[in-house]
Amino acid sequence: MPNFRHAIVVGASSGIGAELVRQLAQQGCRVAAIARRGDRLKGLAAEFPSLVIPVEHDVTDYARVPEVFQKATGDLGGLDLIIYAAGAMPTVGGTEYDFNKDKVMIDVNVLGAIAWLDQAAVRFQNTKSGSIVAIGSVAGDRGRVGQPVYNASKAALTTYVEALRNRLSRFGVKVVTIKPGPTETEMTAHLHMKGMMKAEDVARFILRKSDKTGEFYVKFTHRLAFFVIRHFPSWLFRKLSV
Ligand SMILES: NC(=O)c1ccc[n+]([C@@H]2O[C@H](COP(=O)([O-])OP(=O)(O)OC[C@H]3O[C@@H](n4cnc5c(N)ncnc54)[C@H](OP(=O)(O)O)[C@@H]3O)[C@@H](O)[C@H]2O)c1
Repeated sequence: MPNFRHAIVVGASSGIGAELVRQLAQQGCRVAAIARRGDRLKGLAAEFPSLVIPVEHDVTDYARVPEVFQKATGDLGGLDLIIYAAGAMPTVGGTEYDFNKDKVMIDVNVLGAIAWLDQAAVRFQNTKSGSIVAIGSVAGDRGRVGQPVYNASKAALTTYVEALRNRLSRFGVKVVTIKPGPTETEMTAHLHMKGMMKAEDVARFILRKSDKTGEFYVKFTHRLAFFVIRHFPSWLFRKLSV
């Protein structure tokens, strides 16, 4: 794992984000752990008292992001890694169109990411260093019947992060997109799927890739399968009804 000293994890109160905080702290990295559920964050901080700084924040409070970002980097004493792990995927029925649910996904998965990662982009462009990591999803690779807006939100996030990568690589900044498949977390608890990945394994993979510019599937089989799926013509993909 790369040797990070100061990190921000946004979406740190459960699932993959909480595991990222634990694994970073275990290697001695100071981490600002950001999310809305302060009790969960305090629990993490209690596990690593001098290393984890809990920060209660709602990523849809976009106007406050610059101030929260500056305070977190000040409290940490620097920044060499930011991971945007916050995400929302409400349950959506196969024939349901609920704008309120759809808006939450765009607000958290896309606009929150832009609000936070823009801050990191400016800082790292100036320091000519640092790693920016965003958690996309295999779900962003195609528009599927089950989760139209979740798919669209992850596709938008992936494209935004690709553009950051193309802008910032010339300044020596690493920009990384990770595309996990189904992972056992609170987000997927209602799915009762077999064979899901463990959050700790996904977090370990993310940290291994965090100083490697590029886009990464967590499983090799996903890389192969989604290469094929991405290249299905739209008329054929529609017939598969997945
Ligand atoms: N689980 C999967 O199968 C899977 C697969 C591919 C990609 N992903 C992605 O992986 C990332 C982590 O998800 P997870 O599976 O670990 O789910 P999770 O346990 O539900 O974690 C989601 C995190 O996002 C935070 N969050 C949500 N809304 C927020 C808001 N308005 N402000 C601040 N933080 C907010 C939550 O914190 P609070 O509720 O405390 O605010 C929580 O820490 C997400 O981007 C998800 O889309 C997950």
